[in-house]
Amino acid sequence: MRIAVVNGPNLNLLGTREPNTYGSATLADLEQGLRSRFPAVELAFFQSNHEGELLDYLHRTGYDGIVLNAAAYTHTSIALRDAIAAIKVPVVEVHLSNVHAREEFRHHSMISAVCVGVISGFGMIGYELAVRALLEKEEEMK
Ligand code: DQA
Repeated sequence: MRIAVVNGPNLNLLGTREPNTYGSATLADLEQGLRSRFPAVELAFFQSNHEGELLDYLHRTGYDGIVLNAAAYTHTSIALRDAIAAIKVPVVEVHLSNVHAREEFRHHSMISAVCVGVISGFGMIGYELAVRALLEKEEEMK
């Protein structure tokens, strides 16, 4: 199975960005951890601070599943929601922090309704859970 792990704005700063909220692991740590945890899965990693680049990536990815932390665009981007609805690839929405325990503007997600599921509040483990969920889904479809 081929899975793309996509991270949105400001997540390139993981490690130094608000460590009390997001932890001290970096995106490189995330990539290394997932690659060693899932050696049989073909994983691709993409991060962008630009909404249009995220859309272009979602459109062109030929992957079987997508793990997406859309970061702040989660709460604002109708374009991202439409892109997820347009592609026929299952997308799992992931957040490092528990967005429901934070400011009210983070409680609403534009994208949840078009994702296959949502994982929020488990830090980096959330990405691992999302990959596992996509693998289980794929197994179910067989
Ligand atoms: C986030 C939560 C968002 O509300 C925030 O804008 C982020 C990160 C998370 O992973 O917890 O940038 O998606």
